[in-house]
Amino acid sequence: MAKLALRDLDVRGKRVLVRVDFNVPVELRGEVRITDDTRIRESLPTINYLRKHGAKTILMSHFGRPKGKRVEKYSLRPIGDYLHSLIHQPVIFSHDTIGKVPEKIIGHMENGDVALLENVRFQPEEETNDPKFSEALAKLGDLYVNDAFGTAHRAHASTAGITKFVTKSAMGLLMEKELKHLREGLDKPTKPFVVVLGGSKVSDKIGVLKALMEKADTILIGGAMANTFLKAQGIPVGASRVESDKVDLAHEILDLAKKRGVKFLLPIDALEAEEIRAGVPIRNTSRLSPQHGISDGWQAVDIGAATIALYQEELAKAETILWNGPVGIFEIPDFAEGTIAIAEALAQSGATTIIGGGDSVTAVKQAGLADKMTFISTGGGASLELLEGKELPGVAALTDKK
Ligand code: ADP
Ligand code: 3PG
Ligand code: MG
Repeated sequence: MAKLALRDLDVRGKRVLVRVDFNVPVELRGEVRITDDTRIRESLPTINYLRKHGAKTILMSHFGRPKGKRVEKYSLRPIGDYLHSLIHQPVIFSHDTIGKVPEKIIGHMENGDVALLENVRFQPEEETNDPKFSEALAKLGDLYVNDAFGTAHRAHASTAGITKFVTKSAMGLLMEKELKHLREGLDKPTKPFVVVLGGSKVSDKIGVLKALMEKADTILIGGAMANTFLKAQGIPVGASRVESDKVDLAHEILDLAKKRGVKFLLPIDALEAEEIRAGVPIRNTSRLSPQHGISDGWQAVDIGAATIALYQEELAKAETILWNGPVGIFEIPDFAEGTIAIAEALAQSGATTIIGGGDSVTAVKQAGLADKMTFISTGGGASLELLEGKELPGVAALTDKK
């Protein structure tokens, strides 16, 4: 069902409650330092639209997982200061999320003003999606906009419950953009459609894998999840991270790929190390087979040189590429070559490139290639659930478009 969008609302002079996802990575060294401000910057189109159209913008977000208590290091105040520096306009901060304090602040707001409420997760009622809390939030505004794509897979008070207590609720511009790109990526990708799937767990990504199997021409597997597939093919995996209880499932997927005529590629060689640490000896295995696998006591930490070449060749042929999950333990620079090579192959492919998943996005940014990609999602869990074909509660709760 299509949902109301920001442009469908008459916002002038209205108090507009906007749920954003300001859950950004930070470094805590005395002062909070934002290490990646993408989610804040991506919220600017909605915030600036509302300012320009004379709304009173009331932002709300979660930050970290304070578990229903006030935890100072998860205060949104420094994020408000940072937003101030981006929009060159004061951001009025309410140190309470609901009640007299925000009511008074909002009562004094002028058209075009921007306010930010304290972390909604300081209240236990946020995550339990408590109707009373939802109602108290809703009372602060006239209209509700959800722009927090990154949190759209959570059915919380500020993402879902609140919509029952406002007259109209709509998608923000970021929410709309995310849904459009990710849905297009899955609905009608230009062929050949190549998916690169890596990361840690088969069990986490099984749903995505099955859903993508219906659409993809080629699936390239990397990361720890490759090990489970290698094991299913009788290839020794040494001390690699593997989900032994998922080997049957891996078989099932390999069969499904055959049935569907999907080209399902596993690493043909690997980089192996005895320890997950920078500076340890590493070596490229020979071609993997049931006779030659990962060495005893060694672990696959990245895809090998022959696999990189093979995957590069497939990516060069693609018209659409979806990437989720690094193909190696890229956090350690010695094991990052495969992941960087994938990022470069995407950048050079000329294909429509879509990146979802927190760690893959980090890898692309570390490689300095973010601006070479067609679309980078601000959602980790949310983008995966969307790709799996699940309904996102934060979207489902919005007002239907007539
Ligand atoms: P994303 O956030 O992009 O969806 P995941 O969270 O599924 O990705 O997986 C990322 C993690 O997978 C990274 O921390 C990375 O170190 C790990 N990983 C990748 N390859 C391997 C491997 N061969 N062995 C163990 N861990 C791996
Ligand atoms: C995220 O970072 O994935 C979102 O902000 C959701 O956060 P959560 O996993 O703590 O609900
Ligand atoms: Mg991750």
